[in-house]
Amino acid sequence: AQNVFHFKLVLLGDASVGKSCLVVRFAKGEFYEYQEPTIGAAFMTQTVNLNSEVVKYEIWDTAGQERYKSLVPMYYRGAAAAVIVYDITSKESFDAAKGWVSELQGTNTLIALAGNKVDLEASRVVEREAVRAYAEQMGVLFMETSAKSGQNVQELFREIAVRLPKD
Ligand code: GTP
Ligand code: MG
Repeated sequence: AQNVFHFKLVLLGDASVGKSCLVVRFAKGEFYEYQEPTIGAAFMTQTVNLNSEVVKYEIWDTAGQERYKSLVPMYYRGAAAAVIVYDITSKESFDAAKGWVSELQGTNTLIALAGNKVDLEASRVVEREAVRAYAEQMGVLFMETSAKSGQNVQELFREIAVRLPKD
């Protein structure tokens, strides 16, 4: 028999970085060029099967637009994991991601940093190696992803599932 574990996971990051697209790619295997901006937050569930364990994520996909910013702590409070997303073509979005890392550091939330839109390599402004060094220094998981191509999306949620403490 497999043990089933439930974890609350939250997505954080600037508007338009691709939080909703990452969740939709992970949960449904789909991608929409015209994904609507999230209003408040959206909820979804998805499961990851590990060897002898099943991880059931309860996912809160928050809204990145400024007007919703005051709501966000309500969603990350008590989360087992946070995926902090930036867009590799936006320096501003990476600065915002660092702000979220600082805000969640020192809590019990496992932090993963996702540099999304890696399919737009030609427009990259945030260097991978610099972020890798930053992530290592902060002790957070780091992956570059593409909700569009699917690159590293399953891997990201799987790696978080592996690392989450289960007891
Ligand atoms: P808010 O809900 O407003 O906070 O935005 P969000 O972070 O949820 O962004 P969303 O998922 O709505 O994506 C914004 C735009 O970026 C959409 O037009 C997507 O099609 C596009 N997008 C998302 N992920 C990717 C990606 O990996 N590659 C490319 N090229 N475009 C992407
Ligand atoms: Mg969204």
